[in-house]
Amino acid sequence: MSTVVNVGLGERSYPILIKKNLIAGIGLDLQQRNIAKRYGVISDDYVAELYGDKLMASLRQAGIEAELITFPRGEASKHLETIAALASTLANRGFDRKDCLIALGGGVTGDITGFLAGIYMRGIPFVQVPTTLLAQVDSSVGGKTGVDIPQGKNLVGVFYQPKAVYIDIDVLQTLPHAELQGGLAEVIKYGVIVDKEFFEYIEKNRQDILSLKDDVIIKVVARCCELKAWVVEQDECEGGLRRILNFGHTIGHAVEAASGFKLIHGLAVAIGMRTAADLAVKGGHLTAEESSRISTLIQDYGMSVQVPPEYNRQKIKEYLQADKKTVGGRVFFVLPTAIGAVTITDQVGEKDIDSVLENS
Ligand code: NAD
Ligand code: GLY
Repeated sequence: MSTVVNVGLGERSYPILIKKNLIAGIGLDLQQRNIAKRYGVISDDYVAELYGDKLMASLRQAGIEAELITFPRGEASKHLETIAALASTLANRGFDRKDCLIALGGGVTGDITGFLAGIYMRGIPFVQVPTTLLAQVDSSVGGKTGVDIPQGKNLVGVFYQPKAVYIDIDVLQTLPHAELQGGLAEVIKYGVIVDKEFFEYIEKNRQDILSLKDDVIIKVVARCCELKAWVVEQDECEGGLRRILNFGHTIGHAVEAASGFKLIHGLAVAIGMRTAADLAVKGGHLTAEESSRISTLIQDYGMSVQVPPEYNRQKIKEYLQADKKTVGGRVFFVLPTAIGAVTITDQVGEKDIDSVLENS
C-alpha cells in the first residue's frame, strides 16, 4: 500500500511518497536520489524521542552519514533565536553546502527546518518527514517556511521547496487525538474549497478515518497532497489562487491569537471554517443548507464550531484588523459559494462578523 504524488514545479519538482512504515525505507530512498553526502536530522525533542532512532537506523543501514539535532517542542520554539542556534550547531559540526537537512516532525519542525535550509550558506537542500496529520496534508507540501516574531506569526520566512516529502502514516498512531482533529480540520478544508466528491468521501468514511484505517488514511492524505500540489503548481508564491488555502484561517487565526495560542491551530481553523460559511450565507454566496452541512461535518469529527464564550470578542476583532497590515490594508475572507467552490472578498460587514462570532 503506497502512493506517490508529484509536485510539478519544473526543475524544483519533487515527489511526495505516502506509505506505511516508510521511515524504515528513507535511508535507501535518499541513497538512490543521491541528494547529499551528509544529513542533519532536525527534530523537536519529543518527536526525536519517538522516531529519531528509527530514522537514524534507516540512514545508517543505507550507509548515510547523519546527525540528529533537536530543539524544544512547541510553537514557542518557532522563532529566530532557534534558527540562529541551529545554524551555529550546523556550522560547529562542519555542515556545508553539499549537505542536506531532514525535517522530522510536525509543522513547527518543518517550518523551522525549511527556513534554516533556505538561508544556511545561502541555501542547502532539505527533505520533509512530516509526523502530524496537519504537516502531512498541508505544511510539508508547497514550500512555505518561516518563523514567528513578536509582531505576528510566520512574518519572517521564505518560499523554499523540499527535495522530497516522506509521509509514513504509521506515525499518526502516537498522535494525541486533539492534534489528529486539528489535521482533520485541514482535510475538511480541501473538500470545501475544491473537491465536493472528497467532501462526500469524508462524510461517508468517518469511522475509518478516525480509526486511522490504513488504506483510507493513505487515500485521504494522498488526495489532500494532490489538491495542494495542484494549487501550488499554479500559484507557488500566493499571488492569487493559493489564497483559497486560507479558508477558515482569517477568523481562525484571530481566534487562535485570542486564545494566547493555547488552542490548537486546526481547531481554531474549524471555528474559522464555520464562521466563514455563515458569513457566506449572510453575504448571499451560500445556501443555509450547505453551511449547515459544513458545520455538521466538522462537529461529526468531534470538533467545536463555537468561539469559546470566555474568548474576548473585541480582541478577536482587533486581531482581524491586524491582518490588514499584512494583507495590503484589507481583511480578506475566503467564503464558500458551494461545497467545492470558494470566492475571496473583503466585503464583509462588522455586524455580520459580530453575529457569526456568536453563532447567530
Ligand atoms: P507541531 O509541529 O508543534 O506538532 C504538534 C505537537 O505534536 C508537538 O508537541 C509535537 O512534538 C507532537 N508530535 C508531532 N508528531 C507526533 C507524533 N507522530 N506522535 C506524537 N506526537 C507528535 O505542530 P503542527 O500542528 O504539526 O504544526 C503547526 C505549525 O505548522 C504552526 O507553526 C503553523 O504555523 C505551521 N503551518 C505551516 C504551514 C505551511 O504551509 N508551512 C501550513 C499550516 C501550518
Ligand atoms: N497552508 C497554506 C499554504 O500553504 O498556502
